[in-house]
Amino acid sequence: MSTSGRPVETVVEVDTRSLGTPISPDLFGAFFEDLNYAADGGLYAELVQNRSFEYGLADHPDWHALTAWELLERNGAAGWLTVSTDDPLHPANPHYAVLTSTTFAGAGLRNEGFDGIPVRAGETYDVSVFARLADGTADRMMARIESRDGEHVYGQARLGPIHGSWKRCAAVITCAVTDPDARFALTTLGTGTVHLDLVSLFPQATFKGRPNGLRADLAQAIADLKPKFLRFPGGCLAHGQGLGNMYRWSETVGPLHERRQQSNIWHYHQSMGLGYYEYFQFCEDIGAKPLPVVPAAVCCQNSEGTGQVGLPDEEMPAYIAEVLALVEWANGPADSHWGAVRAAAGHPEPFGLEYLGVGNEDALTDTFRDRFSRIHDALHEHHLEITVIGTLGPSTFGEDWEKGWAFARERSVPVVDEHAYKSPRWLLENTRRFDTMDREGPHLYIGEYGSRRNNGRSAIAEAAYMIAMERNGDVVRLASYAPLLAKRDHTQWLPDLIYFDNTHVWPTLNYHVQHMHSLNSGDAALPVTVTGTPQEPTAPESPRHTLHIGTGADTRAEFTDVSSSPLSGSATREFGNWQAESGIWEPFGQSGVRQTASGTGAELVLPDAVDGPSYTFSVRARKTDGAEGFVLGFAGTSPGNRCQWTLGGWGNRSTWLQRVDDGILDDLSERVPAGVETGRWYDLRVEVDGRRIRCFRDGELVHDDEDVRSDPEVFAVSAVCDSATGDVIVKIANATPDPVPVRLRPVGVDGDAGFARTTLTVPPDATSRFGPAPAVPVEDRLTGTVCEVPPHSFTVLRTRGGSTRGTGEEAGHSMRVGSESAEQG
Ligand code: AHR
Repeated sequence: MSTSGRPVETVVEVDTRSLGTPISPDLFGAFFEDLNYAADGGLYAELVQNRSFEYGLADHPDWHALTAWELLERNGAAGWLTVSTDDPLHPANPHYAVLTSTTFAGAGLRNEGFDGIPVRAGETYDVSVFARLADGTADRMMARIESRDGEHVYGQARLGPIHGSWKRCAAVITCAVTDPDARFALTTLGTGTVHLDLVSLFPQATFKGRPNGLRADLAQAIADLKPKFLRFPGGCLAHGQGLGNMYRWSETVGPLHERRQQSNIWHYHQSMGLGYYEYFQFCEDIGAKPLPVVPAAVCCQNSEGTGQVGLPDEEMPAYIAEVLALVEWANGPADSHWGAVRAAAGHPEPFGLEYLGVGNEDALTDTFRDRFSRIHDALHEHHLEITVIGTLGPSTFGEDWEKGWAFARERSVPVVDEHAYKSPRWLLENTRRFDTMDREGPHLYIGEYGSRRNNGRSAIAEAAYMIAMERNGDVVRLASYAPLLAKRDHTQWLPDLIYFDNTHVWPTLNYHVQHMHSLNSGDAALPVTVTGTPQEPTAPESPRHTLHIGTGADTRAEFTDVSSSPLSGSATREFGNWQAESGIWEPFGQSGVRQTASGTGAELVLPDAVDGPSYTFSVRARKTDGAEGFVLGFAGTSPGNRCQWTLGGWGNRSTWLQRVDDGILDDLSERVPAGVETGRWYDLRVEVDGRRIRCFRDGELVHDDEDVRSDPEVFAVSAVCDSATGDVIVKIANATPDPVPVRLRPVGVDGDAGFARTTLTVPPDATSRFGPAPAVPVEDRLTGTVCEVPPHSFTVLRTRGGSTRGTGEEAGHSMRVGSESAEQG
């Protein structure tokens, strides 16, 4: 025995003779959403920002049709630059630039790109513009890639002739210089007025050389993950901010200038240059199945001003036809109506769509159920080949989640989409949650998940959670980490899988975990027995608990009469010696404190304040001004590990209970709509009774929830068989701080033949975003069957062939090995 009381050696026994449990062939995929500048300025390779002059207030309060553009009046040139919507290039693209040059040395316009225009010496760039000569002699233009200061020309080409009606002019520029921060300019040759639209500078060196394609290095990073599927276009972007902002797939195919652009729910613009065609093409290029998500004819329930709204009844037939048209566009023959649109774009062969998500995180209201049912029924009637994916709302528990499951069962929806943005601890505590799923019921798509940090602790917890999915790959059918991409200086959501700027791509630790899992998937989960499993050390029985009071973001408040008493008994204790963790706190009245700072949340802590685990904690609180409300902390031993009651959180919209583990919050209760009124005193009381927490506001019970905990699986193991190769693959996520000596017993395989080993070892707090990950997977060979699994690590051990799968007792009469047995799984 070791000093920690567990056996010196952990034995991992894998029965490679068993047929095992089949694993979904599509288990690990990727999730793309245009968030954090993932599309325009990111994966979509266009270098000109606002190329169609469609930016506006709806995208961003400071934006207008000429954002990212400037008038050029060089070398004595003079002119002006305006915007018009008269007789546009296409009604879907109403704005265009009007450039007037009053001098023969022509005036021009110049684009700053997305944080500059990165160009490389020797590369070729397609330049194109739709132009119309309104008057004068300016029937030619010069297109130029130049330095930021305009002093150096890196490459140029003439465009024209320009006629009196809209015409596309195109040329190719070969760039002579590498510059991450170049500019693109167009100047007239002659005097007069030209109309310009869809001004494009596009590298020819896109991923797989596709015209109107994707940035090669970013696309390659996604391709390297070998995702089995790729979800698109989101996320919340799919159902949109209000009905008018729903993502309509049919408006994103066809010629670029006919695509309807719109504002992005994440507060910028969607050019739709990366539309459904480019998405399906990318899927095909990387061998991933497309998994599009269409709105369930309702917009996001968090839409400002409206909340969730359903499309009016009279619009439903057309909307349902639009969803059915997507299937025809993807799968129909080239001579079908929509198949012809696909063929005209360059893809006569069908794409082979199998999955279709309907809805994203929608509240399970009657409106949603009605709209979803109509779409689902139509798909069922016309396209039995499509597997429809429903939604369970935004969380892993609660009313929408429960209603979502019930509704899916009632309507026989084959797969439902659950989202789990959780702390590492939550993931480790919940690795067993799929074991008890109804094997006959709807299957699960864990459509968005991640453990809230780009550090080692999160990465290893995700590895363990994926092990849990793999062990249950018969019911967990699909899973995708989210979000995928985030650009430097435009990151709106943390964490993400891949960070980038205009010239770099930085895969994270979390990416390496996805990569290791994806490259080592199998088609059957084999029985594994682990003896001597490392456990988390047991916590002391009744520690003293820390209390805290605080304010939400940019909020000022006063607190008084803070006290605590044992649940049984009357000895009330009042406090004085608080410590400010953040904010500016000053005494107030007889025994109160006042928080006066702006900025992020503020908190005052009283360490070791009360004997756990049962007590009441009371305080009077009044918000004096600000955006949110109060936060009370309890039931824990430090600010980073406790429970908390948030009142007036989420922009003063909700009250709810959370638990905090290693500084990361997980919701314990549902969010109840309720804000905090400025100037009003509230009597707040929390009763902590072991794991049960009850919160009272002015004597009224607001929350009554349990902080249910289970033992985290800190040493998670799976074993799978890859029938195609006969390889047996063992995965081990060790989330403990200790090295673990392991003896492998692969029953039925010659273990002495050794294993190809890949190990990712990461200090739990090591983190990175815009830079190289602090660790990368290391490959070596394990000879024999004994190894030491490093602390905080994810290890993959792979035999080269040798599976005897199907020869054990469990296999009964069907005992075959190798690729032939794949059909059985
Ligand atoms: O991934 C970011 C967002 O998280 C998605 O848009 C939404 O579905 C979820 O809430």
